[in-house]
Amino acid sequence: MVTSLTSEVEVDIYDVIFKRKSIRKYDNSPLDEGVLNRISEELNNLTPLYDDIKTDVKIISGDDVKLRSMKQAPHYLAIFSENKEGYLTNLGFMLQQMDLLFSASGIGSCWQGIPSPKGHVLKSSDLNFIILIAFGMPTEPLHREDTSEFKRKSLENITDIEDADELLEPVRLAPSAINSQPWFFTGTKDMILAYSNKPNFLKAVFVNKYIPIDVGIAIYHLKVSAEHFKKTTKIMFNKNETTPKGCNYYATLKLDSEG
Ligand SMILES: Cc1cc2nc3c(=O)[nH]c(=O)nc-3n(C[C@H](O)[C@H](O)[C@H](O)COP(=O)(O)O)c2cc1C
Repeated sequence: MVTSLTSEVEVDIYDVIFKRKSIRKYDNSPLDEGVLNRISEELNNLTPLYDDIKTDVKIISGDDVKLRSMKQAPHYLAIFSENKEGYLTNLGFMLQQMDLLFSASGIGSCWQGIPSPKGHVLKSSDLNFIILIAFGMPTEPLHREDTSEFKRKSLENITDIEDADELLEPVRLAPSAINSQPWFFTGTKDMILAYSNKPNFLKAVFVNKYIPIDVGIAIYHLKVSAEHFKKTTKIMFNKNETTPKGCNYYATLKLDSEG
């Protein structure tokens, strides 16, 4: 459960996964100062995948962004990180927490790989700029009404784990750059290995940079799902894990029953 950014209402983040969507049309008026302060507080409380990687997230205005044909939002999260093994997966895992919290709070958001911040924003951090997330009040429906509205691969195409359909459904619904859904989950329902598929040559040009972010997002959805089913999650990186041909290994999730 999380507390909404816009009221004291408690929301189950698991439920949000089944209705969230990327929002691309925004009311241009800025959010209330109080809400922006709550967002800043939450940014300081995000759970990292790896706690030895320095990250920095700034709230910037739409005027601080080179849009490159994307529609402007009133606010953006500008996400910076040091360049260390696992840093993109770490950011996907961390910032998907905000994407779901925005959606749970009536605020629209969208990961944005195409636009970039203007020079003064880039100079404002010692870390490397990685990606933006647009956010603000939506002027289109915030939520999907039914999971059939998600354009996603079927479970058989993203996993070969038996008896884990309910557990993995939230992973199937995770967002990814150009909706490429580059993930594959194997192992057992108590010890899940997260891989990405190598994209074909043409797709690779667009998605290579984003694949580790996408997998981090999917791993976060898996953690939320496991906790919903009363499992604790230990996420490990096993350098010696065997990797099927055409795949990249990201993480192993050990799921145990609570208590
Ligand atoms: C890493 C990443 C980068 C993205 N970049 C863009 C972008 O530049 N522009 C855009 O309109 N959507 C972008 N998206 C949103 C995806 O297109 C969207 O998540 C996907 O099509 C699935 O749709 P949904 O989020 O509505 O479920 C990005 C998503 C991710 C995860």
